[in-house]
Amino acid sequence: MHGTLGPTAVQIDPAILYFGTPVVLIGSTNDDGSYNLAPMSSAWWVGWRCMLGLARNSRTTENMIRTGECVLNLPSAELVAAVDSLARTTGSDPVPPGKLYRGYRHAKDKFGLCGLTALSGETVSAPRAVECPVQMEAKVAHMHEMAEDDAVFRGHLAAIEVRITRVHAHPDIMMDGASNRIDPDKWRPLILSFQEFYGLTPQRLQRSELGQIPEAMYRPPGWQPAL
Ligand SMILES: Cc1cc2nc3c(=O)[nH]c(=O)nc-3n(C[C@H](O)[C@H](O)[C@H](O)COP(=O)(O)O)c2cc1C
Repeated sequence: MHGTLGPTAVQIDPAILYFGTPVVLIGSTNDDGSYNLAPMSSAWWVGWRCMLGLARNSRTTENMIRTGECVLNLPSAELVAAVDSLARTTGSDPVPPGKLYRGYRHAKDKFGLCGLTALSGETVSAPRAVECPVQMEAKVAHMHEMAEDDAVFRGHLAAIEVRITRVHAHPDIMMDGASNRIDPDKWRPLILSFQEFYGLTPQRLQRSELGQIPEAMYRPPGWQPAL
């Protein structure tokens, strides 16, 4: 509503700035050929590209740099317990000191731990998580070291750009009569806000002006994803 001033904001100093983003379960391949699966939520998409904010010392980050690939599995809100069972675990052995400090433990078989089913990708050998309604196969395009200007965080954070090579979706989140469209009324993402899990409101808030643009107009004519 215009014209109403809210409460006056006060200056605060929060330790984290995680205001609410979808959870991604990144599937990657360990150096012995086994699979790793890790929850993360510092992710956003533009076109068929995704930026992933990852701790440099995570097994997932090491696997993605070594193999150049991953699968971005998007859990629905109903998979919250599976996601939570992976929290405070790492495929790294030994557990890095910073993670030990926050109470992490090593887990070798993360698919077994959370009860999700692994399936090798078609354009990558990293694993899809079959129960996730969206599974996006991806290849690493670029890695950006974050916080190089910060003496404390330097060397600890990476922003990895990946190129999506194939998208798989469960039929029950697809729009009726449109083979390439996810129906946002059916897709129920799991959201992490600060350190807690949420879903979205069941109903749309109001009509969307952006929603008047045909989705197909976002695909350049003749464009195909490079594999
Ligand atoms: C819901 C959720 C979201 C998370 N988001 C991120 C994130 O965006 N970036 C990150 O580096 N770690 C994130 N983490 C922590 C990682 O899961 C953690 O570093 C884990 O040890 C990675 O596993 P890995 O070492 O086997 O790759 C998140 C954890 C949970 C449970």
